[in-house]
Amino acid sequence: MDRRKFLGWISIGFLASSLPVVIAACNKSSNNSETITSDESLPEPPITSENNGGEAYTSIGLVTQLDQEGQIVNKDKEVIVIKNPENNNLVALSSKCTHKGCMVNWKKENNSFLCPCHDAEFSVSGEVLKGPATKALTVYSVKEENGEILVSK
Ligand code: FES
Repeated sequence: MDRRKFLGWISIGFLASSLPVVIAACNKSSNNSETITSDESLPEPPITSENNGGEAYTSIGLVTQLDQEGQIVNKDKEVIVIKNPENNNLVALSSKCTHKGCMVNWKKENNSFLCPCHDAEFSVSGEVLKGPATKALTVYSVKEENGEILVSK
């Protein structure tokens, strides 16, 4: 077999072996574009406490517990939940200070979250009121369902 024929066979073999991979990749991308462009005939999945259009909610505690204690801190999820004193709406924020990661606490008398490590202060909506922290606390979606506080994190 001469060199030209050998290279021809190698090329055909390469194309034949890659064809299924190329077809599979095209199918995947065409499926994705169908999902993104959204076929109106497809039914929307029901929104539940576990699935809010892609957001998963986790139970952080009970509203009665929040009312008694003034805040709920979930150390595993690094979330702190309070009721906004202005409108009584639930507020869920990252409990991890953006300076060096200490756990912030809600100080009702100050209407702010305070970090015990270096005294950074954050507003009800997580914005920095006083350094050394420079970044706001992350805000999470929160809702109440059947007396339970559910946070999307
Ligand atoms: Fe919070 Fe430094 S860790 S202010």
